[in-house]
Amino acid sequence: MPLDELQQATTAAVDADWWRQAAVYQIYPRSFADTNADGLGDLPGITSRVDYLKSLHIDAVWLSPFYPSALADGGYDVDDYRNVDPRLGTLDDFDAMTQALHAAGIRVIVDIVPNHSSDRHEWFRAALSSEKGSEERNRYIFRDGLGEHGELPPTDWESIFGGPAWEPVGDGQWYLHLFAKEQPDFNWSNDEVRQDFLKTLRFWSDRGVDGFRVDVAHALAKNIGYENYPSKEELAAMPWDGTHPIWDRDEVHDIYAQWREVFNEYDPPRTAVAEAWTDADRRPAYARASGLGQAFNFDLLQADFDAAAFKKIITFNLAQAAAAGSSTTWVYSNHDVVRHATRYGLPAVGDPDAAKKWLLHGADAEQLDAALGLRRAHAATLMELALPGSAYLYQGEELGLPEVTGIPDAQRQDPAFFRNKGVEVGRDGCRVPLPWSTSGPSFGFGESHAHLPQPAGFGQYSVAAQDGQDGSTLELYRKALKLRRELQDEESLRWLPSEPGVLAFSRPGGWVCITNFSAEPQPLPAGELLLTSAELTAEHTLPAATTAWLRA
Ligand code: NOJ
Ligand code: CA
Repeated sequence: MPLDELQQATTAAVDADWWRQAAVYQIYPRSFADTNADGLGDLPGITSRVDYLKSLHIDAVWLSPFYPSALADGGYDVDDYRNVDPRLGTLDDFDAMTQALHAAGIRVIVDIVPNHSSDRHEWFRAALSSEKGSEERNRYIFRDGLGEHGELPPTDWESIFGGPAWEPVGDGQWYLHLFAKEQPDFNWSNDEVRQDFLKTLRFWSDRGVDGFRVDVAHALAKNIGYENYPSKEELAAMPWDGTHPIWDRDEVHDIYAQWREVFNEYDPPRTAVAEAWTDADRRPAYARASGLGQAFNFDLLQADFDAAAFKKIITFNLAQAAAAGSSTTWVYSNHDVVRHATRYGLPAVGDPDAAKKWLLHGADAEQLDAALGLRRAHAATLMELALPGSAYLYQGEELGLPEVTGIPDAQRQDPAFFRNKGVEVGRDGCRVPLPWSTSGPSFGFGESHAHLPQPAGFGQYSVAAQDGQDGSTLELYRKALKLRRELQDEESLRWLPSEPGVLAFSRPGGWVCITNFSAEPQPLPAGELLLTSAELTAEHTLPAATTAWLRA
């Protein structure tokens, strides 16, 4: 093979694996940066911050939905899968953003929401104005209601956000919505639905998108007959073994096999990561190369800040991902959970639901040790960034942002709050627009207000306040991500002997990471100190809740 061809082939091979150990930064576009003073972040806002993103040394951004949407569920209710919400920009703005990110060496992942559309999608509107049994209705899951005139729902099932999972349409039929009523579920047994999503995957891939994050990947295939429906109790008691009527059915993988063929039409192949809240032992089917290629595990996100718990999770997930031919994924925060700087400062650290309850009941300040939370967050992140596999970071965690508490009810947006009054506080507290400057309207997010209220004092977390400041969260992320790029080698890890409450491992090339999860100082092994998550106060000693990177 001539040399230039060989070089090209080698580059393509290297490129094809870019995702395996990538640091991926999740952008929630409506809360990132607003360039036209309407209070909503937009795509030109992302483009205007490419230098900032580059300064983080991340490999990719994942954009939560930016498609046209009534925002019944923060954009996860999509009106049109192949367009941009006019409030966020245009397709030209999308192209300009992608170009600028690519020029900065940052890949682009978009969110694809295949389980449901919004009720404003043209297909759903057509379904509503068509008859029972029509082709239009067959793209969604319409069923006859019970009772003489269909006035009762087909089942007593509840939606994830609370309230009934069926909505009547006035002619005796009801449609299924696992989430908000503005999010009707697609019928994936219908080939038209399948073909349309293949078109969408190609549409964005043709525009240069490098990968996809697949929303609710485990719910697409359903088996919902017309008779003998299980009750909600029966449904809840059914095992998730591939035969459940809704969740994680085996047939869902036929869909992803088809998607994989589309991904592989591109060079390098487009990547995908499944958001599949399945039983751990069923993740490999999503993560294998013939499927989506990678799957989230949310195990660390749900773990206590505890050495033994972390070790078990890390060992399990590395082995499992490797057996599937994939690499694993680490996540502490995203747009759906209480931010980890806050979670780690609460008594029931490992239980995101407990954190939500704490928020619900007035976010009692006495229960929160914010300084400890942030310190542990730094330690956990520095450990995460030393692990083999991909690290998924959520915008604002690089600023150490806490969960915003006390958003007035009237300003809340999350359907989980409204549909579940008094039971769920919702996810608005982690979606508050980023502070870029120490003062000014919306702390530099834009020239006017922010669509979710920022608390007074948010400026102390701003990029401006932390930029260049030694010891700031931002500089810790920058240094760690830069070093990670230099040190990252093969996807392997070797545990080193350590005291109880401490985890230590080495990576190829002599990179050692040691984390003290305990509340007492612990001995620090010898080696060249590369980076620590907190200042060291005594020689050869690793303080409580601190991580150090060394070269052995
Ligand atoms: C998971 C997304 O992360 C969440 O934000 C959304 O509400 C649901 N899927 C429904 O699309
Ligand atoms: Ca805007």
